[in-house]
Parts: sequence; C-alpha cells; structure tokens
Amino acid sequence: KAVSERTLGHGFFIDSVPLSHILDLSTSPVYVTSLNAIAERISIYKKSLENYFINHSIFYAMKANYAETILQHIKETGAGVDIVSIGEWRAARHAGFSPQKICFAGVGKKEVEWIEAIEGGIGFINVEHLSELQDILNYLSTHKLKLSSLPILSLRLNPCVEVKTHPHLKTGALDSKFGILFEHFVNWINIIQQDFSTQQDFANWLSPLKGIHVHVGSQLMENKIFSLVIDKVLECAHFMFEKNMLPMHLDLGGGLGVPYEGVDPNGDDIKKHIELFSTILVNNIKKYEALQDKWGKKCENLNVSFEPGRSVVASSTVFITKVLYTKHNSAEHHFCYVDGAMNDFPRPSLYNAQHQCEVINFQEIEKLETQFHWKIVGPVCESGDFLSSDALLPNLKKNDVIAFFEAGAYCRSMANNYNLRKLPSEIFIKDGRIIKIINNELPPIQ
Ligand code: LLP
Repeated sequence: KAVSERTLGHGFFIDSVPLSHILDLSTSPVYVTSLNAIAERISIYKKSLENYFINHSIFYAMKANYAETILQHIKETGAGVDIVSIGEWRAARHAGFSPQKICFAGVGKKEVEWIEAIEGGIGFINVEHLSELQDILNYLSTHKLKLSSLPILSLRLNPCVEVKTHPHLKTGALDSKFGILFEHFVNWINIIQQDFSTQQDFANWLSPLKGIHVHVGSQLMENKIFSLVIDKVLECAHFMFEKNMLPMHLDLGGGLGVPYEGVDPNGDDIKKHIELFSTILVNNIKKYEALQDKWGKKCENLNVSFEPGRSVVASSTVFITKVLYTKHNSAEHHFCYVDGAMNDFPRPSLYNAQHQCEVINFQEIEKLETQFHWKIVGPVCESGDFLSSDALLPNLKKNDVIAFFEAGAYCRSMANNYNLRKLPSEIFIKDGRIIKIINNELPPIQ
C-alpha cells in the first residue's frame, strides 16, 4: 500500500501541514491533532440529532482527551462536556465551558467533588447509588439553593445487556459495578419518596430528579444493542411517571466505536457510523412519544443527550515515534525499537489494541519492497511494552518515523510517567496552521 495515498488527518500531511515539518518543531514521540477533524465529528452528531430533537445536548466525554486546546475548540462548537472527577470539572471550567453545559457522571464520586460542582452551578449530575442520591438531595434541600438553579439529577440504569467489546470496556451487564438494576431503580425511587414525604414542599425538593442515564460500554461497533437499551430506559421512564415524576432528560451515554484496524484514510467510516448510530437512537426514542400518548401527558421539554468521547476525537490524531534500532531474533521474530513506549501510548499494552501504523518518511524503493512482521517495542523495562505486536512494514532503519493512527482517544489522556519518562509532546493544527506546541518536561524530582 502506498503510504503517500494517505492525506488529511492521516500520514504525511495533517490538514496540509507536512509531518516532516512537525518533527523539526518538537521532540519525538509526539501526538499531532487536527482540530478541524474534531469539529467535523461534533457537527455530524449535531446534524443527525437536530432534525428530530428540539432539545438535545452533546456532552463530550473529556476523559477521552482533555487537552485544553481540544476542550476550548469543542466548547466553540456549542457542545457541553461530560466529567468524571473534580479535576475534570476544574479543567472544563478553565477551558470556558459554562457550568450549565457540564454533566458529572461517574461511579464513586466523593462528597467534596459533587459539592464543589453544585456550588459552581453544574447543570447535570448522573447518580449511581442510593446513598449518593440521598446525600445530594439532602444537600440541595438544606442549603437553600434556588430551585431554578439546581442541577438535573439522572439515575444511571444498568440495563443488563451483553455488548461485544473488550471485557474492561463493558459497563452494562449483571457483573458490572456501574449503574442500578431495574429492581433497585424501582426500590430506590420508592425509598427516596418515603424519605422526603415528611418534608414540607417535598415535591419541589425531589424535582431535580428527572433524568435517566445509561451507558453500556465503549468501543461498540454494533448499533442494534441501542434499541434494546432504549426500551429498558423507557421502562424506567414509565415507572417514574407512575410515581408522579415526569422524566424529561434522557442521557444515552457514549460508546460508539471506531474502526482501529482497516482504517479508511478520510475517516468516512466513522462519519457513517455516527450517522447510523444517531438514526437508530432517534428512531427508538420515537417510542417515547407513544409512551406519552399512553400517559395522556406530554413531556414538552424532553432533552436527549449523548456523551461521546472516542468517536469525537480518535481519528483526529496520530502518534509519531522514531526508530532507534532493530533486531532480528529469528526468521519470525523481528523487533523494532522506537522512542515511544507503553507509558506514552498505552492502549496496545492495556487492551491489546491494534492501531494501524505506517512509516511516514520517504524510504528508497528497494526498502519498501522488503517487508517484515515487526513487533514495535519501546524502551520501558517490561515485555508488555509494545506499540504493535505485528506490524507489516519495510526494512526499518534508525531515524525512520512511524505514525500510529486513530490515536486521539484514551491515548494521551492515559499516558503516564512510568520509568520516570517524560510525557510525549503535543502539536495542534487548525485550518492548516500549527496553533500550539507542547514539549513536556521530565517529571519533577520529589
Ligand atoms: N459516558 C460514560 C459514563 C463513560 O464511562 C464513558 C467512557 C463515556 C461516556 C465515553 O465513551 P466513548 O464514547 O468514549 O466510548 N480507556 C478505554 C476506554 C474507557 C471508556 C470509559 N468510559 C480505551 O482506551 O478503550
């Protein structure tokens, strides 16, 4: 395959900036991100949703990539942000997101975390446990906050569905720590109503509880599971209605996968995938209308939201690393040592993820003709340190440059200082221009 065929966002050029130029500006390894590619993904989500829902929100799951430049750029698109810790709350606020456009999801939140977010005017909190719900409602009712400024609380349902993905990325089955089983959902609403029934004005103080949240896993390549998930969400909605609560916020989580293997150069696969995913969700949410007809009561301000992470940022970024040297242990075992390692680019060692890679410097023709199945390994002191377990590439030599694709999600955000290595550099490109370069330093000596 001719590497020169790769264009926008992949390979030699990112948004018409040559990668050779990029390497002159930063130390390797480096993440290079096209901000335009990110905005494009957000706009596909938006377009697919706005035709149907008057009120819809996209909360970008910033755990996928929390670089400030990316957050600021996503904020400009009008999207909100999904956070999971007080660190993410502060980074989102620092990047300029309005608190009303922030949703705090996540299992095991600490009290100090949600209090800071509530005091800061957060718009949405997704609750994962009865104890958390009781504490938050008690806090809201005793702190005399204005009713109009309370966050919308959503209970996270565990719909008990089996999804196809890496075991670490499944979050909606019986053996999952996440969310609430339907039986618990029912019990907990009953308990909460009892708890608050003695309080004056109790309907008001329960009023923030008007949402249902669900997120069944990440890197999901099959869309059909979502129709099952939405049916379960609507069962909860019906139960809430019977309890005099009108669920007006449905948060359907994230999870849409990207094709890591067999990536197409212009990212069209992922665009089609987002469109199809949105259509399936939209068609299934229509069932909510039928349900409301049955109730004889309309939920005028229904807001449907999503928390996509990976599908927004994965294909915006390449990870670039330089060859140090090579070694041939046998006719089958070929090692290529690069300057990037598992601490810089952790998905292969964590999930055995196979990101496609290519040599991006020009090689003489005869070198391209000889190919090896390389194990691409880094300088970290363990055998789990590999960036690819089987990459078919030419006869590599010192200073050759290898790019790994689909590197925008859960790569830089999971990088760490293991072996006291410094974090990789980062370069951001917008409208064909480099707008920011970050050359990280070695971690401070404690
Ligand atoms: N909402 C919730 C509640 C989540 O837990 C997640 C991801 C998302 C949204 C965003 O999901 P996405 O659209 O990105 O699939 N480190 C792993 C992925 C962990 C995903 C964690 N939760 C990886 O590298 O594959």
